Amino acid sequence: MSNTLPPLPYAYDALVPYISEEIMTLHHTKHHQTYVNALNAAEASYAKASTPKERIALQAALKFNGGGHINHSLFGRSLAPSAAVNKGTGGVLKDGPLKSAIEKYFGTLENLQKQFNATTAAIQGSGWGWLGVNPSTKALEITTTANQDPLLSHAPVIGVDVWERAFYLQYKNVKADYLTAIWNVINFEEAEARYLEAVGGSKL
Ligand SMILES: [Fe+2]
Repeated sequence: MSNTLPPLPYAYDALVPYISEEIMTLHHTKHHQTYVNALNAAEASYAKASTPKERIALQAALKFNGGGHINHSLFGRSLAPSAAVNKGTGGVLKDGPLKSAIEKYFGTLENLQKQFNATTAAIQGSGWGWLGVNPSTKALEITTTANQDPLLSHAPVIGVDVWERAFYLQYKNVKADYLTAIWNVINFEEAEARYLEAVGGSKL
């Protein structure tokens, strides 16, 4: 039952210049750790709760901190050091099933990025932008969730954190610049693995 902070598969400065070392360090060691700690506390309280009322009172904490843990675990693996600065493979969409699906549903990667960024920038308050697989149609679709709600309507392929803490230290209030920059560090290899699992129907 005890949840733990998963390590990032790269160093805190590995996403520079697109996401700063300070943001990555705080985001992982402080914010994500806090969700893990609070989720563990809520789960422990839930296990001890003896009445429906006590259990119901814990629902919000379980959802918020559980969602925060799920979303940030996914986000950490959604990113990779950028090929644009010769650090890794981030931002590179190779020929393959995911690229074919993106072209089928969005025409081009550039078009997907434009639609994703416009939809995600329009989130009021804090939330997440998602590229996901519709479990009924297997189509790739863009959607958003509020606060730390995890994506339940689709199987997540790419998730982008648009809470201000994800970008404010570097981009201040210019969310659009953050959203433009982040495509340079998207881990499309991870995204393709998730896409294939989703369309394979094995674990939606
Ligand atoms: Fe975050």
